[in-house]
Amino acid sequence: MADTRKVAVLVGSLRRDSLNRKMARALARLAAPSLALEIVEIGELPLYNEDLEKPEPPPAWSRFRNEIRAADALLFVTPEYNRSVPAPLKNAIDVGSRPYGQSVWSRKPGAVVSVSPGALGAFGANHHLRQSMVFLDVPMLQQPEIYVGGAATLFDAEGNLTNEKTRELLEKFLGAFAGWSEVIVNRES
Ligand SMILES: Cc1cc2nc3c(=O)[nH]c(=O)nc-3n(C[C@H](O)[C@H](O)[C@H](O)COP(=O)(O)O)c2cc1C
Repeated sequence: MADTRKVAVLVGSLRRDSLNRKMARALARLAAPSLALEIVEIGELPLYNEDLEKPEPPPAWSRFRNEIRAADALLFVTPEYNRSVPAPLKNAIDVGSRPYGQSVWSRKPGAVVSVSPGALGAFGANHHLRQSMVFLDVPMLQQPEIYVGGAATLFDAEGNLTNEKTRELLEKFLGAFAGWSEVIVNRES
């Protein structure tokens, strides 16, 4: 088996008590040693504006781009806003995609876990995200799909997962993601 792969985790919610952030932390704890999951913050990124794309762009953009460049793989953990990707996450995707021809996303293996207190598990955001990632040349894990619904009941006060079936599904997902990351990273090297 290969070395530890560094996984940049992007959380689509900025909320302090975010269920998605709890999920991202739970995933980091569940992951095997071959995957090192680390959250890359997106809340401070100025809204994408091509006028700011100068030799010295906003420092937060440069920090973000460097952190994504340094990652071997990408994991998106996101809620759904109005059946789509929340604006902060879409903004981060746009920031990383530019300047034209210098996208930091290209050919990194990716996966998405979508999380909602509602019943549909943020299906709409999950698939809108996939649409952008196809264009950005990020090969996304296809199976198992992870739409986590009813998420408000899944964690205890400390943010630990309390639902055994969910834990099993996430472990299966992480195993598949580790395998997928190896396939893509080795294909690119
Ligand atoms: C602007 C806005 C739009 C929302 N739209 C949806 C939606 O389309 N589907 C859904 O399941 N939940 C929707 N919600 C509810 C979120 O799923 C809920 O607030 C969730 O807790 C957000 O994730 P978080 O806990 O990680 O912050 C919306 C919430 C907001 C604030």
